[in-house]
Amino acid sequence: MNLQTLTHLLIPALPQLACPRCGSSFSLVGTSVKCGNNHCYDLCAKGYINLAPQHDQSKEKYDATLFQSRNRILTDGFYQPVLDAIARMLEAKHGKKPFVLLDAGCGEGYYARQLAQRFHEASIIGLDLSRDGIRAAARQPGDVLWLVGDLKQLPLADHRMDCVLDVFTPANYEEFARVLKPDGELIKVIPDSDYLAEIREAFQPYLRQEGYSNQLVVDHLHKNAEILEKVEVRQTFPLNEEQSRCFLSMTPMGFSVPKEVLEKTVLREITLHLQVLRCKVQKEK
Ligand SMILES: C[S@@+](CC[C@H](N)C(=O)[O-])C[C@H]1O[C@@H](n2cnc3c(N)ncnc32)[C@H](O)[C@@H]1O
Ligand SMILES: [Zn+2]
Repeated sequence: MNLQTLTHLLIPALPQLACPRCGSSFSLVGTSVKCGNNHCYDLCAKGYINLAPQHDQSKEKYDATLFQSRNRILTDGFYQPVLDAIARMLEAKHGKKPFVLLDAGCGEGYYARQLAQRFHEASIIGLDLSRDGIRAAARQPGDVLWLVGDLKQLPLADHRMDCVLDVFTPANYEEFARVLKPDGELIKVIPDSDYLAEIREAFQPYLRQEGYSNQLVVDHLHKNAEILEKVEVRQTFPLNEEQSRCFLSMTPMGFSVPKEVLEKTVLREITLHLQVLRCKVQKEK
């Protein structure tokens, strides 16, 4: 995305944004956004705005290689059933009406990009703390406003979002409640017990837990939100060698695995088992 397209997407979205340092609103000044307290963030010629410039990107484990692998797997369509479930929920609630959606922790932007293609009336913001993720996102075509930002301190104004999407990303319910409209909803995607079971089995000696349970995530969710709808996705797919390599290098499970083990492991198939949850986030306590 170039500066011109970024500016074109930014102007109507300006009222939805807020300075992450002081919470005040932004105006566009030349090729920067500036808040009332003179905190200034440049529009990047690569097609995004870095609203978390203090974050030390050199410590990010979610790096360009990981996002390349994620991008390959996502564009090969493995996660299309998840995308379809999300799209059905949005369609049921909004139909053809405009809505504003934040993809919090969007990574290389698959869901935000695909939703922008399906919902032409929607305004979509993709936000991630990893600059490599947002750079990978902004390299691909799509009417999405890409922001480097922290979901623990969202650079967004209060109560402007119709939907927050949170796919395999840690949640911050207080921030989600702050930015959602009173009738806004959270769509959260969480892994279920057999999610990437083949990788868990291959990496078992290097992982802290034996099986996977989403109980902690679900308990935390129940404390902060009411689940309105639940869709379970469970499918096992055959893999070629390239896809096996990408799956092994796209997941945080690989972070603790020695490189030589990663390189010699080959998966013949992969199971995707997850829950797509449409939720009402409880008001700030
Ligand atoms: C497992 S990836 C999922 C990415 C994407 N939602 C997908 O499903 O392809 C988790 C993402 O959350 C992002 N993330 C983690 N902590 C974050 C934070 N505090 N603020 C914004 N993004 C964060 C990571 O950089 C990473 O891109
Ligand atoms: Zn400010």
